[in-house]
Amino acid sequence: MKSTSKPLSKNPHLIQWVKKMAALCQPESIHWIDGSQKEYDALCAQMVKGGTFIKLNQKKWPGSYLARSDAGDVARVEDRTFICSHSKEAAGPTNNWVNPYEMKKTLRGLFNGCMRGRTMYVLPFSMGPLDSPMAQIGVQLTDSPYAVVNMRIMARIGKPVFELIDKDNKRVVPCLHSVGAPLKKGQKDVPWPCNKEKYIVHFPETREIWSYGSGYGGNALLGKKCFALRIASAMARDEGWMAEHMLILGVEDPQGRKTYVAAAFPSACGKTNFAMMIPPKSFAQKGWKVWTVGDDIAWIKPDANGRLRAINPEAGFFGVAPGTGNNTNPNAMASLAKNTIFTNVALTDDGGVWWEGMTDTPPAHAIDWQGNDWTPALAKEKGVKAAHPNSRFTAPAKQCPTIDPDWESPEGVPIHAIVFGGRRATTMPLVYQAFNWSSGVYVGATMGSEMTAAAAGTIGKVRRDPMAMLPFCGYNMGDYFRHWINMQRNLSETPRIFHVNWFRKDKDGKFMWPGFSENMRVLKWIVDRVRAGGRAKETPIGWMPRYQDMEWEGLDFPKEKFEELQTFDRAAWRAEVLGHEELFLDLHAHLPKELMFERELLICRM
Ligand code: GTP
Ligand code: SPV
Ligand code: MN
Repeated sequence: MKSTSKPLSKNPHLIQWVKKMAALCQPESIHWIDGSQKEYDALCAQMVKGGTFIKLNQKKWPGSYLARSDAGDVARVEDRTFICSHSKEAAGPTNNWVNPYEMKKTLRGLFNGCMRGRTMYVLPFSMGPLDSPMAQIGVQLTDSPYAVVNMRIMARIGKPVFELIDKDNKRVVPCLHSVGAPLKKGQKDVPWPCNKEKYIVHFPETREIWSYGSGYGGNALLGKKCFALRIASAMARDEGWMAEHMLILGVEDPQGRKTYVAAAFPSACGKTNFAMMIPPKSFAQKGWKVWTVGDDIAWIKPDANGRLRAINPEAGFFGVAPGTGNNTNPNAMASLAKNTIFTNVALTDDGGVWWEGMTDTPPAHAIDWQGNDWTPALAKEKGVKAAHPNSRFTAPAKQCPTIDPDWESPEGVPIHAIVFGGRRATTMPLVYQAFNWSSGVYVGATMGSEMTAAAAGTIGKVRRDPMAMLPFCGYNMGDYFRHWINMQRNLSETPRIFHVNWFRKDKDGKFMWPGFSENMRVLKWIVDRVRAGGRAKETPIGWMPRYQDMEWEGLDFPKEKFEELQTFDRAAWRAEVLGHEELFLDLHAHLPKELMFERELLICRM
């Protein structure tokens, strides 16, 4: 080893582990991350020099950079993601499983010398505010400076976290990450090192993460999906709380009361947009306001009074760029206006960024996400995209104009309603409310959604994605459902559960619902229902608003159209229930009885 910076922790376990992993990975040097702005700037400058980062026009995009990934490393890789529990049964049929001893052996082989010629960063991070009793600590060892600077936006990192590790002897989740591209002596690096062979591996019992071969998003920013969902869901089951793929928002009504809502939508199905929604003018004028607590992950726990409270374990947004613009999500645009890292969007001629949907008029020329010339004509003739469909922005949450005053409250915010939603062209109405907790758990458990570009796979195919957690649950999905059912026992007040679908299409394949801001109308009905004043009608699947139960001021949406949007189609629901059955067959040995009864009741009502 050429050099190592001064260790910033005195914790003997941590120091020992760093030593051991360095001996395995054989980096050229070790850098203990202090988390300072100076360090961040230096890492960014180093990446600009190496070609990983392009510094954007600082007048237009202060403090911001663009990275272009390898074309083979653009999204999460679900088929290369493993839950290595002690038994296959514990991981369940929806997860890839390999015997943990075998997997460790494979990984040791892969990690052996994998950081040669590179620096190993020792990156301590807290998921959740440092002073929150719900926060958890991890340390990521990584050879990717890109991962380090992104993690500085997405989590609380550096010296204060080392202090917590030293002070409390707190249990730390060890996260080992390598892009899997060692450098030979004198070998020139590429802008985006990675490996064709990828392994995103979780050991839920020992609470460890090993990630190899990818530098992108959830594969590399290990605090996010790997820790805050897959490992945390296993912790949460053991400790009586919930780690969920949910946004958290607060609705302020004209009386000044705040109703907090947590909503689970699968990847690229609208969480960031919903979390930052701006109510239409007619609502704003009356005093309605939406506040943002989090846009992707919620850790939820009953408090001493039996009320569910949630924190956002993250400190930033890793948001989908395409489709984000001033007409759809001005709050996201404000959040990403400075101090932001863009990945796989297009570079404009004036040193700015652009992506499909950012503006109505595209730039006349740009460099696309793969570094090639791009023009609107090329897009029209050959369908070439300027930005990759899963291109992202990494932006600090505190830059969001609607960030909730309580977003860093250590005890979290009270959760009054839970919303599930998918991307469904047919069958699912705009909104309905489940009858009670167990029927609500059934609604979440049987959720379906069309696949998106957020993961490698067949885009557009409907798959069951229970609670939007299919790729993120760190244990047997049947046991996860049981945990949901059991959670109610510790509650004095049960949140109401809803299902929404912004994506139903008409005969011509057009979205029937305008979405975005107009989703406020649905949110208001949800708040009305929670506050016990709201009206609804009973249907076989749950409570639905009638036309007159919704606020329509400022939107011309005829009654017939609304009824079409809300249609409960018996034939379509027959197929839907058969789809539920398919998932249940896979999970049968671990499926809670309550869900089988709910299914029977649903069939009877139909
Ligand atoms: P992850 O970060 O992958 O977890 O995604 P997400 O759930 O936060 O999704 P996001 O809010 O980034 O939205 C993904 C895509 O859906 C974007 O292209 C949005 O423009 C689009 N979208 C979001 N809300 C709506 C809506 O109400 N209607 C329609 N038609 N599209 C929407
Ligand atoms: C998702 O895919 O749900 C994301 C992006 O939020 S990633 O961090 O890559 O998982
Ligand atoms: Mn997500």
